Amino acid sequence: MPRTIVRLKLAGVVAAALVAAGVATGPAAQAHDRTPTLAELAHRHGRYFGSATDNPELTDSAYTKILGREFDMITPGNGMKWYATEPQQGVFDWSKGDEIVKLARANHQRVRAHTLVWHSQLPDWLTSREWTAAQLRAVLKKHITAEVRHYRGKVYSWDVVNEAFNEDGTYRETIWYKTLGPGYIADALRWAHQADPHAKLYLNDYNIEAVGPKSDAYYKLAQNLRAQGVPLDGIGFQAHLALQYGYPSTLEDNLRRFARLGLDTALTEVDVRMQLPATDAKLAEQATWYRDLTRACLAVRRCVGVTVWDYTDRYSWIPAVFPGEGAALPWDEQLEPKPAYSALREALGR
Ligand code: G3I
Repeated sequence: MPRTIVRLKLAGVVAAALVAAGVATGPAAQAHDRTPTLAELAHRHGRYFGSATDNPELTDSAYTKILGREFDMITPGNGMKWYATEPQQGVFDWSKGDEIVKLARANHQRVRAHTLVWHSQLPDWLTSREWTAAQLRAVLKKHITAEVRHYRGKVYSWDVVNEAFNEDGTYRETIWYKTLGPGYIADALRWAHQADPHAKLYLNDYNIEAVGPKSDAYYKLAQNLRAQGVPLDGIGFQAHLALQYGYPSTLEDNLRRFARLGLDTALTEVDVRMQLPATDAKLAEQATWYRDLTRACLAVRRCVGVTVWDYTDRYSWIPAVFPGEGAALPWDEQLEPKPAYSALREALGR
């Protein structure tokens, strides 16, 4: 018998003996034995676990390695916003969103697309002049139609309208509300649905995790929209939380009342910031918040998944906007997992 065949046969005998002894061998066994990712753990509950990302970070290969491995849903943090996608009127630029969709596809991840109608990060051509209602309506319809068509079949969902309400539950006085009245929300949903009938359509906001005037406003609006047959599929609870303001303990009940309206819910932009420096005690408390909010989502059947607003403190938006605050994400600036990461695993692993 030639030597190579003898070696192969011997290897086979050794492998069979190892298998018989309960020792795992081969790629399948390795995949089975390695620690499951957050996405894999969430998948066991029929949920996804996602992260936001942004184009400038994609050159950081240590970062993209974890992004591609640990998550199964990706949200572009800026690349699909109006200033990026229609920088001049009628001139569309899909390059940033396309880059993220392409990366997500390569990693077998889905995309929560964000966002079509917002008052922030609008291009100058849109904000620097007055519009009649008819003109602005046409501008809005064209933007929504073009963008949703471009990503048709490539994204799981759209945050159609972002941050439409004030804290007291009144409509935010945005360019859209002031010029078009509250009907812009139903219009936006209908136009998005026409452009991609399969994308899940969401309204998305912050400070609506607890039951209160702002989440009540969404509840009433959702009820009305559903009653009118407007294509609304879900409510996104951003969940930009801060240790100093207390945990929103009515989160689970709140998610449940929206589910009872026949709507999906999702935690869409989770981070839990703190006043710096980050102490062991604060990181431990942060971990319990990550655990509890994940448990709240798992407890409500129609809460479809959790997305962190990027996964590492290296790329968090917090320090730039809240000076002296930060350390909000489950991985630190060195890409090392924090107690919050173990807490997520614990919540998803039950
Ligand atoms: O693109 C410019 C770049 O040319 C310039 O050199 C740089 C210098 O500061 O600024 C860049 O723009 C920044 C942009 O992100 C892209 O990086 C803006 O200054 C910065 O304000 C902007 O912040 C984004 C923020 O939305 C704007 O409100 C954050 O990255 C993004 O994470 C954040 O995301 C929002 C969600 O869309 C909605 N919910 C709240 C959430 C956090 O604010």
